[in-house]
Amino acid sequence: MVLILAIETSCDESAAALVEGTTVLSNVVASQRVHESYGGVVPELASRAHLQLLSPVIDEALKEAGRDLREIDAIAVAEGPGLIGSLLVGINCAKGLALSLGKPLIFINHVQAHLYSPLVAHPCAPFPAVGLVISGGHTSLYHLPKQGEEILLGKTRDDAVGEAFDKVGALLDLPYPGGPHIEQLAKKGNPHAHPFRGGQVKNRPLDFSFSGLKTALLYKIKGQNGKKVDPSSLSLQEKQDLAASFQQAAIDDLLTKTTRAITKVDAKSLLVGGGVCQNQTLRETFKTLSIPVYWPPKGLSTDNAAMIGALASYKVL
Ligand code: KG4
Ligand code: ZN
Repeated sequence: MVLILAIETSCDESAAALVEGTTVLSNVVASQRVHESYGGVVPELASRAHLQLLSPVIDEALKEAGRDLREIDAIAVAEGPGLIGSLLVGINCAKGLALSLGKPLIFINHVQAHLYSPLVAHPCAPFPAVGLVISGGHTSLYHLPKQGEEILLGKTRDDAVGEAFDKVGALLDLPYPGGPHIEQLAKKGNPHAHPFRGGQVKNRPLDFSFSGLKTALLYKIKGQNGKKVDPSSLSLQEKQDLAASFQQAAIDDLLTKTTRAITKVDAKSLLVGGGVCQNQTLRETFKTLSIPVYWPPKGLSTDNAAMIGALASYKVL
């Protein structure tokens, strides 16, 4: 069985994992705290933090798996897409390790790794499938005729869905990243309080657009031409209703377009990956689909290195 050390540094998570075959032996993620006070990721700070965090994270991954560096058969690393400075830290570290150990280096596409992350828990998911990646950087629908073959069906024309959650979180004065906080707030809100809708792209029924939805919320809070209301003066109930209505509109839009994609390619299953998979309301809503839906196992939704190692394993097995 091939033992892979995987490294992921595409954004603000410094991550390493050991994967043997498709079994995840360890999955260590250091989420960089340095960005919190800026309300978003500062690329230069992210690269510097990776430099500090990556070595100890790799040591921890080896320790948790109970393995030694000399036992590793191959190194896998996320090659992009992502922040260039952050990626360079992971890639150069992986190159150095591969050279010094005399082991092969496998470059992995970060979005593909999200896409196939549900297979770690469900290796027998039937194909043809539809793949949906919903993260802070991507919102894309794929036709997957078989594992390893992806045809892009639709993508966001502006904000990614996670990015929209984060920006709405900032509008509502919530900590970064806003996604999990919006979900919490929405639990006690009325999802029908505001008639928000996801954007439709002309002649592209499988594309997404979330910037209009975000602006609709901005206008509700501040008025169309200025500072009608200071977000911090909104009552808790008002914030809960705004969060619930936004979340409902985003989820309904994802569900509608995913259903279209499933019908278009006559898919036998749906694979969903990316940080927004953490959202339990979304998971509940997708239960209404007529085909099985496969989600990433615990720890493999938001950025992590286990999904990088697992995809590398599929490539070498
Ligand atoms: O996959 P990921 O870690 O990073 C990218 O590759 O972009 O996804 C991070 C995104 C953030 O935008 C975050 O707000 C969102 O996932 N997220 C959520 C939830 N948990 C994380 N969005 C909605 N509901 C959640 N519970
Ligand atoms: Zn990601």
